[in-house]
Amino acid sequence: MTQEQSPTLDLLALRKALDRSVPDALTLDPEDWTETRALGHRMLDDMLDYLRQIRARPAWQPIPTEIRERFHSGLPCGPTELAAVYREFTDTILPYSAGNVHPAFMGWVQGGGTVTGMLAEMLAGGLNANLGGRDHIPIEVERQITEWMRQAFGFPEGASGIFVTGTSIANFMALLIARNATLGRAVRQCGLDSSGERLVAYASSAAHGCIARGMEMSGLGSNMLRSIPTDEWHRIRVPELRSAIAADRDAGLRPFVIVGTAGTVDIGAIDDLEGLSDLASREGLWFHVDGALGALAILAPDLAPRLKGIERADSIAFDFHKWAQVPYDAGFLLVRDGSKQIETFAAPAAYLRRELTGTAAGSPWPCDFGPDLSRGFRALKTWFTLKVYGTAQLGAVMSRTCHLAQYLRRRVEETKELELAAPVQLNIVCFRYVCDDGDRVNARIVTDIQESGVAVPSTTTISGRLAIRAAIVNHRTQRSDVDALIDAVVKAGAREAPQKEPAAISG
Ligand SMILES: Cc1ncc(COP(=O)(O)O)c(C=O)c1O
Repeated sequence: MTQEQSPTLDLLALRKALDRSVPDALTLDPEDWTETRALGHRMLDDMLDYLRQIRARPAWQPIPTEIRERFHSGLPCGPTELAAVYREFTDTILPYSAGNVHPAFMGWVQGGGTVTGMLAEMLAGGLNANLGGRDHIPIEVERQITEWMRQAFGFPEGASGIFVTGTSIANFMALLIARNATLGRAVRQCGLDSSGERLVAYASSAAHGCIARGMEMSGLGSNMLRSIPTDEWHRIRVPELRSAIAADRDAGLRPFVIVGTAGTVDIGAIDDLEGLSDLASREGLWFHVDGALGALAILAPDLAPRLKGIERADSIAFDFHKWAQVPYDAGFLLVRDGSKQIETFAAPAAYLRRELTGTAAGSPWPCDFGPDLSRGFRALKTWFTLKVYGTAQLGAVMSRTCHLAQYLRRRVEETKELELAAPVQLNIVCFRYVCDDGDRVNARIVTDIQESGVAVPSTTTISGRLAIRAAIVNHRTQRSDVDALIDAVVKAGAREAPQKEPAAISG
């Protein structure tokens, strides 16, 4: 063997080549920590100023074409200074967000976030915890919140819970758990056909569209969701639900879940949860509550009695990012019998082996309770929010938004150009500018007001007619914002409504 062929020398050459291809300096940490620290502090100061002075900004503003086009550029290959990218953020992103932080934002159902939540997000970003599993305190934080919610909703020991993006996914997961609890574990491997049964779900006609979509995604089909009529308060009619269940049984189908709503998306109606839970237990059905908007009213002593019966649910889906003001996103699913949740989702994998000690301890892991393996630290901003404000203050914020909604209702009733479109039961007010061609005019009024920046209401359809919808969720909203909305609607209505021709004088 010649010297050139010596294995030792080959290895040395290989090591040198590798050293060259993996330079020590190639890390993404800052080269100049001092400069980055100063910029980071400035970002924080800027965002604190933004939140402090939010009222001075428009609630929303149209996005100029040239700004939108900035986001059609190519994938960046080379680096850009952090300061320059931050400038791009302040110039092109920050001014054109949807505006739900703003006190005059009343569209859809969106929380306003808090300074505390923002700071917690920064801490979570630095920690970069993956809450899929393993033994670390971030998971204990999530378990702590599950325990707090178990207590708040009066669920028994053995209940389980998990953070998800939002209630759409939490509802979908609840349908899967209910499906598996009904058909048994085998459905996971053998599929729906193997059971030979057709499962039927029940919700009111006012239920959120994600329930029907959840039926589709679960393979059950949205045709197997019965849409039960509601009463004049938009609550499910329990006697009609009972008849529908009987009719399905007679037809050889298998009812499996009743979905009640605590705060319907259109007007904030709360179903008779006690009546639903009685019926579900008599019929042997899973009882799920979609509480995206309203379930956390359990924290407000004056509102909580309206949720009576929720403590008997098999599962509850809700969003901390709405009424509890936690920054997006922070949806949650609470399940009475945690073993049912695990049976639906847990799936062993060799590389996810559990141990009794070491980093792989702490089983079961959150990944056993849902479909996500990689999961962010949503629990931290929620933990900060619950600790910093306490449930009393968060509950008081919810009550206050309901009082503001009643104030808006009174303003609508006192204003001759306006009429209420639905009873005001929680924090949502639906109303109309009264005129001919009302659907077109009211839709225009809403876009006019949004574009003016004065406020952001949204629209919905009530009894086949378009209505202006104001969902007061944000803790920053004041009576003056409600007054400004009323003024803006009346002014825009006068502009947009077709002027009636004066009647011709005959004779
Ligand atoms: C009653 C109801 N259910 C479900 C959802 C969907 O929640 P998310 O947007 O968090 O997925 C909403 C959203 O507003 C809702 O009001």
